[in-house]
Amino acid sequence: MRRPFIIDCDTGTDDALMLAAAVYHDDLDIRAVTSCNGNVGEPIVANNNINLLEYFGVKIPVARGAKRPLYDRPVNEGACHGASGLGDVVIPEAKNGLVSDVIASELIYQIAVEEKGELEILVTGPMTNLALAIVQHADLPGLIKKLWFMGGAIDGGNMNNSSEFNIWVDPIAAHIVLTSGIADMTMVGLDVTMKAVMTEEDIAELRTVGTPAADFAAAMLNFMITHAEERGEGAVMHDALALGAALDPDCMTYRSCVMDVEWQGAYTAGRTCLVNRERPEMGPNIRAAVTVDTPRFRRWLVDAISKSAGRQ
Ligand code: RIB
Ligand code: CA
Repeated sequence: MRRPFIIDCDTGTDDALMLAAAVYHDDLDIRAVTSCNGNVGEPIVANNNINLLEYFGVKIPVARGAKRPLYDRPVNEGACHGASGLGDVVIPEAKNGLVSDVIASELIYQIAVEEKGELEILVTGPMTNLALAIVQHADLPGLIKKLWFMGGAIDGGNMNNSSEFNIWVDPIAAHIVLTSGIADMTMVGLDVTMKAVMTEEDIAELRTVGTPAADFAAAMLNFMITHAEERGEGAVMHDALALGAALDPDCMTYRSCVMDVEWQGAYTAGRTCLVNRERPEMGPNIRAAVTVDTPRFRRWLVDAISKSAGRQ
């Protein structure tokens, strides 16, 4: 069954691994990959997306997007992803990259209209592009069939004790998206992504596949594991797990909740909050992942990237 899809990301190490798993899936018709400031500045993100998609041997348009968040946060220069956003892994510059001449927020809307309510969107970075599209086009939420996003947490944070990076970078954008009325939103937050950790065993298996995507994935996982101490985490598959929610949903369990984002607190801006008592009229608006079957997820991710062998 064809699933029209847009991936909006801030490519970065784990975004890149998510892309390697997404592009070979038979059902996904990835209409565009849209780029957002996040792990590194947007120009580097867009360049990573263009280079990666050509390296993976797929022709998917890349759109440039938000250069900064709606919220007044600093542009994040490669914290745990390195200055290039791809750690120490180097891939060739694309020679024939497909670059859209339409900015991300507008392309999201154009494709949503074309797909007549069947479009699914995966966001694995700050939500700036989608929020801009929503504020420019009031009918967009009704045209999005499903939203999957990596962000937030029911409990905890990685930027402080209560905020996760993607939401922390642009809490206003996340508030706009979560309160926009999109009918089906799935949150894959730190509660589950911190348990989605790949191992040396997975690297060894990927190295037997013999494709650019699998070789890249092995090299990226190796960087994440060998630089775990300085990065603050190992091969944690935040973004690939959000893709897993869309493509192998039973690898996790979920709970429905009423959720909004704090964006006004000096110290709490970026916190995903359960607001069922404060805003009962809003929901439930979010299905949040609460547990993950890590061995099943690891198996799924290696298999998804190994599908590149069939595309040689
Ligand atoms: O907090 C993890 C998220 O922030 C991931 O999407 C990672 O790529 C960074 O964007
Ligand atoms: Ca990301």
